[in-house]
Parts: sequence; structure tokens; C-alpha cells
Amino acid sequence: MAKAESESAGTDNESRLSEAEIAVHWKEEKVYYPNPRFVGQANLTDPTVKDRFAEKNFPECFREYADLLTWDKYWTTTLDTSKAPFWKWFVGGKLNVSYNCVDRQLEKNRNKAALIFVSEDEAEPPVAVTYQDLYIRVNEMAALLRDFCGLKTGDRVTIHMPMVAELPITMLACARLGVIHSVVYGGFSGEACGSRIADSGSRILITIDGYYRSGKVIDHKANADIAVRKAQEDGTKVEKVLVWKRFRDKSASATPMVEGRDFMVNDVLKQFAGKLVDPVSMPAEAPLFLMYTSGSTGKPKGCQHSTGGYLAYVTGTSKYIQDIHPTDVYWCMADIGWITGHSYIVYGPLALAATSVIYEGVPTYPDAGRVWRIAERLGVNIFHTSPTAIRMLRKLGPDEPKKYHYRFKSMTTVGEPIEPEAWKWYYEIVGQGQAVITDTWWQTENGGFLCSTKPAMDPMKPGSAGPPMLGIYPIIYDEKAKEIPAGAGKAGNICIRNPWPGIFQTIWGDPDRYVATYYSKYNTNKNSTDWHDWPYFAGDGATWAADGYIRILGRVDDVINVAGHRLGTKEIESACLTVPEVAEAAVVPIVDPERGRVPEVYIALKPGVKATPAEVSAKVTLAIETVIGKIARPRVVRVVPDMPKTRSGKIMRRVLAAISNQMDYGDITTLANPEVVEQIRVQVQGAGPVVKKTAPEDIKAFGADV
Ligand code: WT7
Repeated sequence: MAKAESESAGTDNESRLSEAEIAVHWKEEKVYYPNPRFVGQANLTDPTVKDRFAEKNFPECFREYADLLTWDKYWTTTLDTSKAPFWKWFVGGKLNVSYNCVDRQLEKNRNKAALIFVSEDEAEPPVAVTYQDLYIRVNEMAALLRDFCGLKTGDRVTIHMPMVAELPITMLACARLGVIHSVVYGGFSGEACGSRIADSGSRILITIDGYYRSGKVIDHKANADIAVRKAQEDGTKVEKVLVWKRFRDKSASATPMVEGRDFMVNDVLKQFAGKLVDPVSMPAEAPLFLMYTSGSTGKPKGCQHSTGGYLAYVTGTSKYIQDIHPTDVYWCMADIGWITGHSYIVYGPLALAATSVIYEGVPTYPDAGRVWRIAERLGVNIFHTSPTAIRMLRKLGPDEPKKYHYRFKSMTTVGEPIEPEAWKWYYEIVGQGQAVITDTWWQTENGGFLCSTKPAMDPMKPGSAGPPMLGIYPIIYDEKAKEIPAGAGKAGNICIRNPWPGIFQTIWGDPDRYVATYYSKYNTNKNSTDWHDWPYFAGDGATWAADGYIRILGRVDDVINVAGHRLGTKEIESACLTVPEVAEAAVVPIVDPERGRVPEVYIALKPGVKATPAEVSAKVTLAIETVIGKIARPRVVRVVPDMPKTRSGKIMRRVLAAISNQMDYGDITTLANPEVVEQIRVQVQGAGPVVKKTAPEDIKAFGADV
């Protein structure tokens, strides 16, 4: 956590700002208005909605979201705060999530595609799973989980699977029984999976033999053996490993099955053919799933999400922000192994009877046109992705979208602040200047969006997430809990003053850490049962413009403190991207004897750039000085062949910061491109042996959240 007062070397008045008051140097962008054709068909255009969700109507305003669901029993208390900050929504209500996402769609949409699975192998045609198919398959899987595995309501199951249709089928089968699923991102290692199995106490692991990634078949079953061993070391015995088959006619894994422990799901399912399982009517506040996320310190946190509040929130936001109608073909390119995929590939879209696309592979396989070909082939009209993917697609094929005949009505970006440069490419080239963009700010802990424009009602402003969502009342505090008002031109710690239905319920097995991490910072009375006393601390720096738009600057632990001025890494990176040759930029802090920390910049160039590294470096430095000021001047700009990236495409600033600061860069085995790390290390540190120094805590923690 940031200290109250700056301790850096500069001591003029300006540098004595509290650490929450991050210097803000973004220039205001012009706004863009939604296309009238979009507005004409949008789900949310009624101007009275703002009043209905105003604070005076809280918490009852969220009935509007909950009423989108089918309840077995209507709730009696909308929000129970008696155990604050452990919130309970829609208390007394009962419902089943799989019923809401599957069974209730049969009447009107039985033969409509619920899911379309797109193999990475372009020779394999897309496979549509209709709502009727989904109903049958979820029921059979639920029967297997109940009768073959002995699972019952409240048990936990770990699912370590890639992007295949069997993943949502498995999740919905769990939900049908009230079994709590914990999906571990398929790209995580067996070890990472094992520690999450142990933390959640899962006796059953569900996996798959293999899948396509960048043109190769990955032996995924191999991870299961490692996971089971690791879970055992951490004290949890996995009784059964269920292995789905990726291919009908061949095995995708050379790893042997363990007799008595491992079972091929496709074989066992034959015993349950046609079997129907009554959906278990669950209390609204029963847990639906766990989703692990990393903090800057400590082990991953199992964020526990609820049944009724969560489903209401993702359904409401999918309808009004994603603008999903049952006739839409919706493609969110995130991975279901992250919260975005849970909320906005599976639960929200299916609760609204949409068609949700599941793409197995990497967006640029086999070439930069793949994404746009999928959109064209399936008639995708709502597209949802991340700034990282946008930058990557822009880097590899800036004009590629123009070659294909798809038409998006709306597009979303999520996960990190988007630089106006990248935003404009998304808008002009991908969206052909027609599609609206929603920049949605939220976190694993939040269940669904916290800030975004209402697509038919609010203008878009590149680089700003937009106003708070309906029924969300943020506040920006400095380190001393003083409010930084909208229009102050200063940044601070963004908090949400009120609970909302999608907020997580606790950290699995660690309620104290839940309170300490998210609520103690600005709570003044720990015995209070009044929600007003419990602002939710998001851990992001943000600034609130006079027009009501919120700009997220990144994690508060990802900022660089230069001579008492905190500079958002994102704003420096955004400046770098204004240089036409630059495809990607990453900024890390390095220790500087005079100024405390100074930025060091890593740059990857667009293909075919003629300028020399020295020329680009000079341009980048000038761009930073011009856009932000000399205070942000990088010590050095390094042009590198590629950025180290996670398999979900995030740049690993932690690794770059370690290299720049002569630290051990730690475990890089889960990266998409570990080989590039050594190349960069040699470029920065020379060819000799790895130098290792110890670094201050903030440098060690930098970028650790990725
Ligand atoms: C952190 C949460 C739930 C979305 C996927 C990531 C950053 C997320 C935005 C955005 C600026 C964003 C924040 C946040 N973030 N969306 N639209 N603009 N920053 O979930 O892994 O829990 O990460 O991602 O820093 O705290 P996550």
C-alpha cells in the first residue's frame, strides 16, 4: 500500500503531493456519438433510467435486473447489510442458474444456437450447440457429476479446461446441482491448478486431453497429473479426474490414464444418455463459483460469487451495456477461464438467449485475418475484446479488417486502460466508424461492469471508461480519505461507496483478508452495519472529469513515483504509441539515486519500420516529454524484438522491471513466449551470467498483478 507522504528526493512544493494524487497528464479527447442505427434498436434508451437507479432508489433499483431472471421463489429482502461488509442480495429468493440459462430458453429458442464452437484448425467447421442440445448435454453431465462422482450442493469442483463448448456445459452442469465450480484458466500450469484445487478443497478435477494452440495440439492431460500431485502436497486428495475428449476419433494426449482415478467423460456419459436432472432450487446468496485472482502479495484469492445477485447483475449489464438481444451473434474473445468469460461469454449472454461464440485458439492463427474471418463466417454483430488484443491485431494487420464483410453494431474493450491511439483504430477500422464502443472497467471481484458508457445514451470518449454504471456510486479518495471531487484534475484511489448485486461475497476460506484488502482502508467503524461506512477499495488509480467520465490509470501499485509525482505507466505508454513506428510499449520503474524511480521504456516496432532504434528512441523520448513533460523522461528506451506476454496476451511488465533492475525475473514458464525474455536480458544486461540484486519492495511488487 502507498505511504501517506512521498519520501522521494524532490522537495519542492509540487512534489509533496500525497501519493494518491497521481499527476494526470492526459489530454482530453473529443467525444464520439453513437450511430443512430444502433440507437434505434438498442435495449436501453429511456432517459428516466438514470433517475430510477439514482441513490435515493438504492437498493430497490436492482429489482430491475433481478426481474430479468426466473425465480422459483421471489426474495423478501433486497439487500441485507447486517453482517457488513459481507453483503447478501435478494435474501429469501430461490433460483437455479442453469434453469435460467438453458431450460427457460427452450420455449422460444429451442433450435437456435446457444454456443458456436470454432476450432483453431480452420479445416474443422464451426459446431453449433442449440439450446436443446445444451439442455440435453447439461443434464447428462449433471447426472454424471451427481451419480458417478457423488457431488452434491455446496461441494467444490475444479475445472481446468481451454476454450471448448464442454467447458460451459460442465459449468452449467455444476450450477444445476448447486455445486460450486472453480475454473482455472487453461493456460495456467498444473502447479497453479493444483494449489487452487487445494485451496478450494475440490475432490474432483475436470480436464480435457488436449486442444489446439498456435497450430499445435497441446497435451493438456499432462497438467492434470502435476495438479493432482501438487494438490496432494498441499493437503487435498483428488479422488477422480474426469477427462473430456477433444477429438471424436483420436486421443489428443500421450499421457496415460491412471487406473481407478482417471475417467474419460465421453465414455462415462454413455451411462447417462438422455437422463434428466431437476435443477436444484438454490438460495440467492448461495455461492455459484470461485474465481482465483492474484494480488500484489500473497497467494491467489478465491473470489466467491453468489447465485442470484451475480446472475442478476451480469444479465442486466449484458442486456443494457452489451446490448444483447436473442437475435444477436455475440463474440467475446476473452477466455472463459477469466471472470470476463464467466460473466460475458457464459452466464450473461445465455441468460438472454443469445448465441455466444467460443473460439479455441489464438486470434492471430494462422494469420492476422482470422478474427475477421470468424466474424464474417458466423455473422458476429457484437464483439468484445481487450486493448492488448486490439494492439496486437493492429500491429500485425492494420488494414486486415477491411478485407472482410462483417458488420459490428457494438464493440467492447476491457482489462486495462486503452490508449486513444488504439481506441481510434478499433473505432475507425474494426468498427468502420459505425459500431459503438463500450470501454468497461471492472475487476474479478466485481462480477460485472462498474464503469461504462450506456451505449445508446452516452457519447464515447477514447481512453475514458465513462460514467459509473447504473446503481454504482463511486468516490475518489486521496490517501488521507479526503474526497477528490470530479473536475479536480487530480487522481486518487477509486472506491465504490455502495454494494451492488455482482460484488463477490468473500475470499474463499479467508474472510479476514477479504475485509483487510477491500474494505479496511476507508472504513471508519468496523462494527457498522450501514453500507455507507464501507467503501469498496478497488486498488486502481483514477480521475473523474468534470463531465462525469472516469479515467482509470491502472493499479495503484503499477504507478511510477518520479520525484514525488506518481506517473501512470499507462499514460507514458500511451504517449509512446503516438509515435507512428511504435506497435507496443511497456514502461517499468527503475531505481534512480536522484529521482527515486524513473521510467524505462520498452518498445516493439511495427513490421517494416525503416528508422533505426536510435531514431525511434529519440522520437519516443520527445513524445513523452511533449505529451507528459520532462518529469516522465525515460532513462532509456529499448527497442526489443517482442514483449514477454502471458498466454492471455498481457505484457509482463514484472519481467521487464526485473531485467531493468538486475533482479531475478522469477518463473516465466507460463509465458506465451519465454524465449524472448533471455534475448531481452542479454540486450539489457549483456551476455554475462545473470546479475541478481535485491530491489526495493515497490519494484519487486511492480506488475505482479498480471
Ligand atoms: C484490473 C482488474 C474484469 C475485467 C478483466 C480484468 C484493470 C480492467 C479496465 C478498463 C482500465 C481496466 C484495472 C482493474 N482494468 N478493465 N476498461 N480500463 N483498466 O480483471 O484481472 O481482475 O483486473 O484490470 O486495473 O483493477 P482483473
